[in-house]
Amino acid sequence: MPSFVTALLTWFDENARPLPWRLDPTPYHVWLSEILLQQTRITAVLPAYQRFLATYPTIEDLADGDDATLMKLWEGMGYYSRARNLKKASQVVLESGGFPHTAEDLQKLPGIGPYTAGAIAAIAFNQPAVAVDGNVTRIVSRLLGRTLSRDDTAGLLKPWIPDGQSGAFVQAWMELGEIVCLPHGTPHCGQCPLRSHCKALKTNRIEAFPAKTLRPTRPVIPMTVFHLTSKEGRIALRQRPAKGLLAGLWEYPNCPEALTAAQAKKWLEGQGFSVRDLAAEPPTRHLFTHREWQMTNFRANASPELPAFIWVTPDELAERYALPTAFRKCK
Ligand code: ADE
Repeated sequence: MPSFVTALLTWFDENARPLPWRLDPTPYHVWLSEILLQQTRITAVLPAYQRFLATYPTIEDLADGDDATLMKLWEGMGYYSRARNLKKASQVVLESGGFPHTAEDLQKLPGIGPYTAGAIAAIAFNQPAVAVDGNVTRIVSRLLGRTLSRDDTAGLLKPWIPDGQSGAFVQAWMELGEIVCLPHGTPHCGQCPLRSHCKALKTNRIEAFPAKTLRPTRPVIPMTVFHLTSKEGRIALRQRPAKGLLAGLWEYPNCPEALTAAQAKKWLEGQGFSVRDLAAEPPTRHLFTHREWQMTNFRANASPELPAFIWVTPDELAERYALPTAFRKCK
């Protein structure tokens, strides 16, 4: 084992943050934490993790839960298919008598890719597995002073796995990437346990890793969103299709074009509404991984409560209907 691995493990032992899933690393806890950590930063993950476990304390509770509760719980976090995959995988795990222990078998579960499979195998089952993401790739690239792919990095790490300490090994790289060997700005090289081994630091090329890549631009999708209130004070919603982006979640009525006020009025009348007090609201936008929505917004009183939509009170909307962040930006 290279001496920098010993230095890394000692550093982790002394500096690991007391994250809740580290205190009680059951497979269920580790799995949930890894899925949440794919989404957002640690500070946002902590409350989400506690909220999730308060609703679903055990994997059995998750497997038995209903979809509407799950979607409402996940509201605002994006990537809703991750929540659905959590539930699907929980059912598969229970049907097959428990979590598989190896990265290879864990990867057969819905929503578990190579990174998450490696993390669960190493952290929850102490299997000799690695979990390589952009952070780990950056650290090893800097350490060796070479641009590496994730696969290159995984290949390099495997022979370094210390006997019986895979969980600490995997998490030590993650931790270093999150609190010391930061991607941009000022990595804290002075606090790094690997600094005396780091080629990039020695040659003053820290900023060369990660290598800059040009992101393809996202297609821009225009749309017009209608915030409609009925005479009875209820709000119009409709359910998105069962397949595709934000599948099965709720949305305000909308059409896939940027409309002027006159066109908006026409569109509403075309649906069968009579419209009062149509007012433009400021435009909003929402970035998804692969597209950008640019939303023209209108508010209006519209009657009657046409059955093409469902009509809910503000309280019902807050408590029961999962409305994605994209539709919450217009206040
Ligand atoms: N990022 C992803 N997984 C992590 C973990 N288990 N600990 C810390 N950071 C992480």
